[in-house]
Amino acid sequence: MKLNIAVLPGDGIGPEVTKEAKKVLEAIAHQFDHTFIFKEELVGAVAIDKTGEPFPQKTLDLCLNTDAVLFGAIGDPKYDNDPSAKVRPEQGLLKMRKDLGLYTNIRPVKAYKELLEKSPLKKEIIEGADMTIYRELTGGIYFGEKKISKDGKTASDLCEYHEFEIERIAHAAFKAAQNRRKKLTLVDKANVLESSRLWRKVVTKIAKKYADVQLDFLFVDNAAMQIILNPKQFDVILTSNLFGDIISDEASVIGGSIGLLASASVGEKYAVFEPIHGSYPQATGKGIANPIAAILSAAMLLEHFDLFEESALINKAVEKSLELQISTSDINSNSQFTTSKVGDFITDFIQYPEDSNINYHNIHIGQSTII
Ligand code: IPM
Ligand code: MG
Repeated sequence: MKLNIAVLPGDGIGPEVTKEAKKVLEAIAHQFDHTFIFKEELVGAVAIDKTGEPFPQKTLDLCLNTDAVLFGAIGDPKYDNDPSAKVRPEQGLLKMRKDLGLYTNIRPVKAYKELLEKSPLKKEIIEGADMTIYRELTGGIYFGEKKISKDGKTASDLCEYHEFEIERIAHAAFKAAQNRRKKLTLVDKANVLESSRLWRKVVTKIAKKYADVQLDFLFVDNAAMQIILNPKQFDVILTSNLFGDIISDEASVIGGSIGLLASASVGEKYAVFEPIHGSYPQATGKGIANPIAAILSAAMLLEHFDLFEESALINKAVEKSLELQISTSDINSNSQFTTSKVGDFITDFIQYPEDSNINYHNIHIGQSTII
């Protein structure tokens, strides 16, 4: 298969982790005889520095003319600490989501058996947990009208949803549930919010078309508690933009590190694949960032094009790296493995999937992983 892939490394650790994801995709292309053509453009704070815009037209044009986008991260403390900044890197991410129509954000979360001891949650609570969050990504309070009064003392953000916005992501979530354990939980705040009541009404109507899927409802405050108390009860979670943002960070605790969580943002025409962790500025350039979330995002990219064998191989390589503790310091606090060493191991495994070709002794003394 020939794929044109736009690479937007962005800010902070974005470039480091994206480099590893690209390396892994190149290994896949080589192994499976695909052609992946990468083209890079600017996004986020680096784009503001060079062009004045967080998502320049040139970057949009590249995205509109590629098959998929591999995204790193955006965000820079110099903007976080300046509430009066007129342009912010995050606007670039939101503009990209809106301009490319990426209304479905898919965030899979699972407890890796190799990392059960690493989560702050008890092993017996998380063992076997495996859920996917479907977060609406181009509507709700993120994109509703924003107001600030003239005296600067009153502000508001409108949370507005239209029926069609709920319908299209609900169909995607129900289909995903049909291919999983056939359970869908709508997370909302229908006891208080009118927009949440619309979600319930629309999702209940759509559920009739998916009779094999069991539909449940949970208020978001209760869901926040249940995700930690009993994560195994969840299969597919469907929710709005803001609630999905919050509960997906929370759910990442189950996996043992936010550095493992990948995501896909998909619309009718375009798709962007990105780690959920953000730019982690404190770690920039230190080689300590975990590349796995970016690498698993690349695996989701392949799945999007039905390259399931290829994606399974990446997942296997990632699991092997966790099993052998070839991990960055977010997972093993005294780890000697840098971002690129973890990427090297995963790439080597893809090229030599038979364990026998990997010299485990050499890996742990920091030499070549291949005999
Ligand atoms: C995410 C991030 C973004 C969001 C920020 C960086 C705007 O937290 O992708 O979860 O809130 O959607
Ligand atoms: Mg977030």
